[in-house]
Amino acid sequence: MKIKEIKAEELNPQEFITEKTKEISSLVGKGLAINALSGGVDSSAVTMLGHHALGKRLKTYFINNGLMRQDEPQKITSLFKKLGVPVEIIDAQNKFFKALKGITDPEEKREAITQAFYKDVFGKLVKESKAKYLLQGTILTDVDETVAGIKRQHNVFEQLGIDPKKAFGYKIIEPLVQLRKDGVREVARALGLPESTYKRMPFPGPALSARVIGEATPEKIEIVRLATVITEEELASINAFQYMAILHQDRVTGIRDGKRDFGLQIEIRCWDSIDARNARPTRLPYEVLDRLAHRIVKEVPGVVSVTYNITCKPPSTMEAV
Ligand code: XMP
Repeated sequence: MKIKEIKAEELNPQEFITEKTKEISSLVGKGLAINALSGGVDSSAVTMLGHHALGKRLKTYFINNGLMRQDEPQKITSLFKKLGVPVEIIDAQNKFFKALKGITDPEEKREAITQAFYKDVFGKLVKESKAKYLLQGTILTDVDETVAGIKRQHNVFEQLGIDPKKAFGYKIIEPLVQLRKDGVREVARALGLPESTYKRMPFPGPALSARVIGEATPEKIEIVRLATVITEEELASINAFQYMAILHQDRVTGIRDGKRDFGLQIEIRCWDSIDARNARPTRLPYEVLDRLAHRIVKEVPGVVSVTYNITCKPPSTMEAV
């Protein structure tokens, strides 16, 4: 079925919210719905819509997959607590790392995360909660890119002809599927979410595992997490579309404490882009690059090399994995 797009120019956020709230209420009826919040703009908007429509009959979980940025579970759940929405954190770190063990191929990593999320963690929560409905923040771009085979998104089963009820035991509601990111940001704003949410930089579903080349072990995730904190601090004021730190698999020789050290390499990427379809590296001031490199080798254990990507998308992609 063709999805009818609502362009940001023609969107009336308040009307959209009223309409979707009604739609969710009538679909779920007196039943229970469940959703997973990651803190991104899409899942945050869906959580607020579901909360308006269902109140306590929506159960929202934050799945801590161990691949999030520093302090993310606490930061996001306390924000929603302030907005009156209770969110339960599920510690599923071991399950995800077990699923990722030994996997180096990027698509296999995504698949392992998808299966761990839906079958092992979320599917079980849904069964226990007896909810029949899952609210999900799929947007039109996710559908397009998955159908086109550009990307394996983790949230578009129905569009791919997979019946989630048969595969996973529940029905998916996707209230944002007619919108693109700019529209979702307007809706998120109208829902009363703070600027830090509605203007939030994109972050991939596979989280920091997309920023580790090769196997995503807890140790490597921790290294890239530390480099991410520094990168996000140093580039916050640049106004770029997206920026990230990537941990490479290859080691290089460096010198530390007067001794040769076969150490780790971090690659920084910082992108100017409108819609993520095309992107070019931001022309960062050299002083900014210099500070980044100094801080990363000093503050992230084992790193002896920091590089900056200067390739456009295409042929590069924005993420390295
Ligand atoms: P690429 O790397 O494809 O990224 O040029 C384009 C935009 O999409 C984000 N991205 C993802 N988001 N699941 C997501 O939810 C994914 O598997 C995924 N891969 C990339 C990326 O961060 C960028 O904003």
